[in-house]
Amino acid sequence: MQINDKHYSHINFGTSYRKVVKPGYILGDCYEASTYFFVKGLQWNKFFNHVIEKYKNTPKVNVFSLAGSDGSEAYSIAMLLISKLGEENAKKFFPVIAVDFDKAVTRNARKGFMNLSADDELRINKYTGNKLNTFFERTNKSFLSDKIGATDRQEILTKFKLKPILQDKVHFITEDINTYVDKMPATNNLIFCRNCWPYLWKTREEFAQKLSTKTDANSYLVLGNFDSICCPMNVKNCYGFSMNKEFPNVFDKSGSGFFDDMRWLVNPIEENI
Ligand SMILES: C[S@@+](CC[C@H](N)C(=O)[O-])C[C@H]1O[C@@H](n2cnc3c(N)ncnc32)[C@H](O)[C@@H]1O
Repeated sequence: MQINDKHYSHINFGTSYRKVVKPGYILGDCYEASTYFFVKGLQWNKFFNHVIEKYKNTPKVNVFSLAGSDGSEAYSIAMLLISKLGEENAKKFFPVIAVDFDKAVTRNARKGFMNLSADDELRINKYTGNKLNTFFERTNKSFLSDKIGATDRQEILTKFKLKPILQDKVHFITEDINTYVDKMPATNNLIFCRNCWPYLWKTREEFAQKLSTKTDANSYLVLGNFDSICCPMNVKNCYGFSMNKEFPNVFDKSGSGFFDDMRWLVNPIEENI
């Protein structure tokens, strides 16, 4: 995909506030890479307690952050697992593989710096038990974010350096998830594929079908609030997926056949911890 790169030079990644638009096309050819830590739409704490229990006898769990943008999601997963299990016991979940086709985002992500908003700092501390300083080193650089992105609001961002305990846990791959999906293993997968389905647009049915072959009974697929209407599994129960009754936005192969067609109307999911 040929993309308009002109916004890149002055965008502060980190949370990434950037909008990529290929002029002359509609939804499938535009996307936003906006993200933040512990993105809403998942009961992070409750779900990861469940994940740890579910995989307690599984020697290796393959964790993916598909369309993972700058790694905020992958790092959220890694921080939560380390906070709950300790680095040694969390090893079987690592590396988290973060895949995104946006070269600028992934190139930047590999540098090991992230620009955090005050809200990011709060959320990281909330979910890790005040371990922000275990995972990040604060620099004295801060600046006003650009006014680009879904929220379209400016905020003060502070530049942080990732510490090795966190940086080492995520591996970035620059690739279209439509092709990457073919390379994924078929079992024991914890797949995050959140807030990108509207951008898949023309390929979403084929992608869902392929993703289904990578989701066995010992796997989960996690979607985002933004995916509610555009993801085929949210519109009808298909490709063998069932909605998880306990965790909104989580799909599995339990075969329960559970499908809540009002799910996409419910309020955004957020957890109080
Ligand atoms: C709104 S961000 C979502 C980031 C993160 N998953 C979250 O929930 O915050 C959407 C991301 O999808 C990526 N994306 C869109 N289509 C893609 C594709 N076909 N292959 C890989 N990445 C894609 C964009 O580059 C962008 O970083």
